[in-house]
Amino acid sequence: MLIPSRFRQGNRRRMIDIWRNTMPDPLLSILENRKSVRAYLPDPIAPDTKTAILHAALQAPTAGNMMLYTILDIVRQDLKDVLSVSCDNQPFIARAPMVLIFCADYRAWYEAFAQSASDTRAPMEGDLILAFCDALIAAQNAVIAAEALGVGSCYIGDILENYETHKELLKLPRYVLPAAMLCFDYPTVQQSAREKPERFALADMVCPNEYRPRALSGMLAAAQTRGMTAAQADAYMDAFRKRKWDSAFSREMSRSVREMIADWTGKQ
Ligand SMILES: Cc1cc2nc3c(=O)[nH]c(=O)nc-3n(C[C@H](O)[C@H](O)[C@H](O)COP(=O)(O)O)c2cc1C
Repeated sequence: MLIPSRFRQGNRRRMIDIWRNTMPDPLLSILENRKSVRAYLPDPIAPDTKTAILHAALQAPTAGNMMLYTILDIVRQDLKDVLSVSCDNQPFIARAPMVLIFCADYRAWYEAFAQSASDTRAPMEGDLILAFCDALIAAQNAVIAAEALGVGSCYIGDILENYETHKELLKLPRYVLPAAMLCFDYPTVQQSAREKPERFALADMVCPNEYRPRALSGMLAAAQTRGMTAAQADAYMDAFRKRKWDSAFSREMSRSVREMIADWTGKQ
């Protein structure tokens, strides 16, 4: 954000307050109001809008300005149909007019490095994580740009499952791994009106300087389980654990990611 020269000196907090109070801040509202959208209007996304979202993704910070990712623009319906099943049976994937898969990608840079020095090392674990960071940060830029243009989005973490299927389906070479999938479209009125799930409080999420163990029960009571009896909160936790933790999809995700890492590092 460009700060006018009259604000550049003096107390920083005061400067931010003045800035907030004098300038409209559409970006903060966009961040505050964004929520995942899983039900869409039949309207297509115009090519210009799609290009603007993709362009915004590419403006994200990127390690060493290397852009360690590739965006797969899934336009074929048969691919969307397969993904809607392989990504834990989520039918709205097949209905989304815009589906992007952000892949961590070190292939091109590694090939260039190997050309400049034949004895250079192969991509390792740190490179994998860095490329995943790049891919996810670019994906989040796309989410925010879409929101600014009135287009809803939803991450599909289940693209981490069924690695072998996705590798073949999307023709992924070595050192290219799917990091995140995003579905985009205009939200229905009902989706727009839906309340955004409450977040934990800032004080629960931020530790000054060093780690401080936090009690999840207190955080939950203040957010997800507000107003529930103790028995209801227990039942909520039990159902949540079964759905998100002791579930077939989460076991498959770990198996699949283990394969991804083995493929990347060459270590079984
Ligand atoms: C890494 C990641 C994976 C996700 N995977 C899915 C998914 O597979 N299916 C889905 O419906 N939502 C998915 N979501 C969306 C979350 O459920 C959603 O962000 C969360 O419930 C908070 O709601 P909100 O985005 O509306 O604020 C995912 C979000 C993230 C960040």
